[in-house]
Amino acid sequence: MVTAIYPGSFDPLTKGHQDIIDRASRIFDKVIVSVLENPRKQPLFTIEERVEMLKIIAPKYPNVEVDSFHGLLVDYAKKKNSNIVIKGLRAIGDFEFEFQMALVNHKLDPQIETIFMMTNNRYSYVSSSIVKEIAYFGGDISELVPPEILPLIRKKIKA
Ligand code: PNS
Repeated sequence: MVTAIYPGSFDPLTKGHQDIIDRASRIFDKVIVSVLENPRKQPLFTIEERVEMLKIIAPKYPNVEVDSFHGLLVDYAKKKNSNIVIKGLRAIGDFEFEFQMALVNHKLDPQIETIFMMTNNRYSYVSSSIVKEIAYFGGDISELVPPEILPLIRKKIKA
């Protein structure tokens, strides 16, 4: 039974994230999508709201669980009996930071393997920051986020 962790801020969840969740769920026996509770970041959505967004789409994938974590990812992965971390890569710009993170995580725990999945090119320009920016200025984000979570975003941003 191979369990993979897909960690992130998900502030908010995008169609790009959902695409990775969908594809990862076909590869691994179990995928735990886990939202980082990061006191050093000021997210727009609370941890509860971000978990709620993921829980809205998770039932589409029978082997996907939603959770949250704080502290080091490697410690969390160990707690969940997983040594696989999934990351989505959109473009070359993501690579440098993600490469460093993968090396750091491997240094902290040599058991940990980071598996990168290339984003679907339909979503390569989508990020949570872009979604927030467009929504703030009243633009249409319906192509960028799962339709089921649009009301949650609109409630927050009044877009
Ligand atoms: O969606 P994001 O913001 O790109 O996700 C980043 C995340 C949550 C994957 C990353 O910040 C993380 O793993 N944080 C936990 C703390 C940690 O283990 N950091 C790596 C060693 S410095």
